[in-house]
Order: sequence, then C-alpha cells, then structure tokens
Amino acid sequence: MQGFTWREGVLHAESVPLPEIAEAAGTPTYVYSAGSIRAGYRRLEEAFAPLDARLHYAVKSSPNLHLCRLLCELGAGMDVVSGGEMERAWLAGAQMADIVFAGVGKTDEEIRAALDGRFSLAADAVEVFGAADPAERGTVGLFNVESESELESISRLGRELGTRPRACLRVNPDVDPHTHEYTTTGKEENKFGIDADRVVALYEKWSSDPGIELVGFHVHIGSPVPLVEPYAEAVEVLTTLIDDLAVKGIRVEVLNLGGGWPAEYSEGDVPPLEAYAERIVPLLEDRTAAGLRVLLEPGRSILANSGVLLTRIQHVKRGRAKTFVICDGGMHTLIRPALYRAFHFAWPVVWHGAEPAKVERPQLEDLEICDLVGPICETGDFLARDRPLPPMARGDLLSVFSAGAYGMSMASNYNDHGRPAEVLVDGAEARVIREREPLSAALAAETRVRKLTRSRRLARA
Ligand SMILES: Cc1ncc(COP(=O)(O)O)c(C=O)c1O
Repeated sequence: MQGFTWREGVLHAESVPLPEIAEAAGTPTYVYSAGSIRAGYRRLEEAFAPLDARLHYAVKSSPNLHLCRLLCELGAGMDVVSGGEMERAWLAGAQMADIVFAGVGKTDEEIRAALDGRFSLAADAVEVFGAADPAERGTVGLFNVESESELESISRLGRELGTRPRACLRVNPDVDPHTHEYTTTGKEENKFGIDADRVVALYEKWSSDPGIELVGFHVHIGSPVPLVEPYAEAVEVLTTLIDDLAVKGIRVEVLNLGGGWPAEYSEGDVPPLEAYAERIVPLLEDRTAAGLRVLLEPGRSILANSGVLLTRIQHVKRGRAKTFVICDGGMHTLIRPALYRAFHFAWPVVWHGAEPAKVERPQLEDLEICDLVGPICETGDFLARDRPLPPMARGDLLSVFSAGAYGMSMASNYNDHGRPAEVLVDGAEARVIREREPLSAALAAETRVRKLTRSRRLARA
C-alpha cells in the first residue's frame, strides 16, 4: 500500500491531509501509515515464506510503543538491543519468549532483567501501561551473543537465577555490505560478532554449559545492504560453520540472518526485497525442511517508507552563494543526512504539478536549487543540500520522505528543542502516538541537585 499520495494537490497520509495533521499536532511531526506498515510486513513475510522465516521487528528502527504493538498484532517477534528496548517491547505486548536480545555491550543489570522479570528495568511503567506483573514474565526467548566475555556474564547470571537461557553466537563473517562505513557491521574490523574462524571452537567449548544453551548463529552485516550478494556470502559462511559443527555431533537449531533489508530511498536505487529472497531461499531451503529455524530482524524495510517527517518552513534566505530553506526540522529531528549523508526525498505538501519522481534531481521546470536546513547551530545541520525544489516560502509545509525508520529513534533535544510528535494514520483516523516533548521533560532531570561529595570538614569529622 502507498501510504502517502497527493490528492487534488495536497499530500495525504492514507485518507488524512497532512496540513490537517500539522494544524492539530504542530511541526515537526513524524507521520506513519499503518496500512503501509502492514503491507511492508506482509511483503517480507511472503518473500521468505518458503523458509517459514519468523520476523523479529528491529525496535531500534522506530520504537514507538504503538508501532511495536501494531507489529506484535501482525505476528512479529521483537529484536531489541538494550534493556530499555526490551522493556518497551514487553510493554507493547510482546511475550518474552518472542524477544531476541542483541547488542554488543549488555550490562549485568540488563541481562538480569532479561532473565528474570523481578529485575525489570521499568517496573514503575507497568501500572501506566496496564502490563502484567513483570515477575511472571519469564526469560527472554533468545540472546544474540557478541563475545566470550558476554557468554561468561550470561552463564554466570543464568546459574545465579536458576535459568538456562537460549542463545545464538553472532558471527562476524568479514563480508562487505557496500553500505556507509558507519553502518557496516560484518567486516572483521567492526566491533560486532565473533570472528568466523573462532566460532566453532567457542561453540564446542560452551555447548554443554549449565548457564546458557547455545542453539545457533546470528549475523547482521550492515544496514541498509543495497546488494543481494553480500547476504549470500554471509549465508555461505554460516552454513559452513553449521556443517563443521555437525561433524562434531553438534546440531544447530536456529539461524538468525539479522536486518539490513533495503528500503527504496530514491526510486529504483535498490533491488526489490523479493530479489534478496530469491537468492537466499535456495541456499537454505533444504536445511529448513530438515528443521533449521530461520529468523530475520527487519526494521528499515518495513518502516522507512511508512513514515514522513512533516516540517514547516520558518524562513527562506537567499544568499550570494546559496538559497537556504530553513525548516523547524533538522539534524535534531532527522540526523541521517548529517550523519551518513543519507538521501531523503523532500517535497512541498501542497503541490499542484505532476507527481514528482522521488529522485535527487526531479526533471521539472522552475525549480530552485537550495539547501534544506534546520534551526540547529551547526553547519552540519541539513536535511538536503543543493536540491532542486519548487520555490518555497515562509509557512509552507514540506514532507521529508522515507523517514519512518531511524528518524524519531535517533532524534535528540540538542539546542533544547523538544523531540517531535508522532502521529499514526490508519485509513481516515489519525492518532497522536507521542506528544511533542515539552521543555519541562528535558529540564526535569536537572531540577534536583544531589551532593555526591561531602565537604572537607564533614569528611574529617
Ligand atoms: C543486530 C541488528 N539487527 C537488525 C537491525 C535492523 O536493521 P534494518 O533496520 O536495516 O532492517 C540492526 C540495525 O542496525 C541490527 O544492528
């Protein structure tokens, strides 16, 4: 489903005109289409149906509780990378057994909470969300383990709390995903996973540990991965490891291929999802028929094109070198352009011309080259640079597309701007699913001062 379309010159989210949302919720605001999220989830599920792959939604991509809940209702498990995300997934309605806990720096506190709900990190939120007693919730379904040191921690805490959690070893396959260096995660110089040539010995060593049960492998090579082949290379590394363990009499039950499945940011810039499935399914079909369970951890491929950032132009400044269109959204609302030089198509919400192709250089007349920037005191604060846009004026609304993943989740209140509101549209209904962050929320943690050191005189006494 196309979540965002122009009707009679006005951009709509499903059946709701975006100017109405801007009027009611203010700007900048993230707007999501529930229909598009459902369609994105089903598309991936269908593509990998021959493997009966289970999808665990990558909460980090867009963590709003209501979005997580929508995905839970569709049947997704959750993929979390911190104790905070784990609590969020659980509050959104996920069973602990359906949560995969990844993350390279898990603390003892987070591991305890994943093993036993009595150590829940968000017990105070339970009443607000009407969740069940966390003490009853049990142990997380699966850990993705990144190092031997982490194996030791989980095992120690597992024994201490009388539980033996299931876990996959995250393998670093040393594969180049051809994505930005900051989101490349499967090369040997990256901090993630365990070198492939050490995995078999490690797996064997820990295979009958009383505090942790190893059940398989996890891999995540980067995000987004714009080519099919790196996945095939990674799968081949993993199937070789599975075979090496089989020779030693150890059977691998679970293979988690992670996320990184692409989303189209610019028309035709990546192969369709189905092309990824077509290449990967034949590599694993026989194994899944023999009982191997395949998991995926998608975020971006479902959410990116299911959300836009709605921003209002505050000023237009025509300088000698450049025209600056200054919006209320910027790097504090959507950091991807500043951080990765990522491309996001942006266009006026009110537009009576032909539907523009979502590309860097739309071939239309009377466009003006401008920098789309935010209010933040950084030259790196931009949403787009040297971008042809229809002439814009103060007060106009602009939609920044493909912003549904890693938009809100990476937003900050830098320069003391509150984080944006979030609105979920389903058909003709629009709901605020997160209020704009008030300044009081940002100041709250600073309003009480606690003395950590005693005065000298007191110390001597
Ligand atoms: C371990 C892991 N799994 C899944 C994902 C989700 O990736 P994507 O949103 O590209 O599908 C990420 C993102 O970085 C990740 O680090």
